[in-house]
Amino acid sequence: MNTRPILFVCLGNICRSPLGEGIFRDLADKTGNGGLYPVDSAGTGAWHAGSPPDPRSVRIAAAHGIDISAQRARKIEQDDFERFAIILAMDRSNLRDLRRMASPGVLTKVHLFNSYATGQEIDVPDPYYGGQKGFEIVYNMLFAGCTSLIEKLTAERTS
Ligand code: 4NP
Repeated sequence: MNTRPILFVCLGNICRSPLGEGIFRDLADKTGNGGLYPVDSAGTGAWHAGSPPDPRSVRIAAAHGIDISAQRARKIEQDDFERFAIILAMDRSNLRDLRRMASPGVLTKVHLFNSYATGQEIDVPDPYYGGQKGFEIVYNMLFAGCTSLIEKLTAERTS
């Protein structure tokens, strides 16, 4: 069966997209879809390349039984636009940056996460300069979105 690799993208690849990757992988594994949807994450910027996720993301994931501590940040590269079937930007600024980087032939792979997953044109807000509460909000948005995303992908596959 064909796999559809999915890439989560934010600015630094230390707060939102590592959490999205962890949540999606956990849900996909639990619903028996893990093999179909390999998942990774990347940042549009390279400032944090090589770093583990922000401790606040590690903490909120751990509170929900998900270990993201082994992930390491990286900047998105051109090859990602070829390798991944679905590329999901956390906010509209990330989406703009991705659209600037992508060649015309792969633009259809690039979407706003919430728009693609739930049909809502809303950003997953950048929690970097806030407190732990912001990470809870981000976790809840990502969990709801990833749940909806798996339902959508399953419906597409079985229709
Ligand atoms: P992320 O959050 O894009 O969700 O990983 C941020 C991480 C770092 C910075 C901004 C946002 N920064 O300015 O270094």
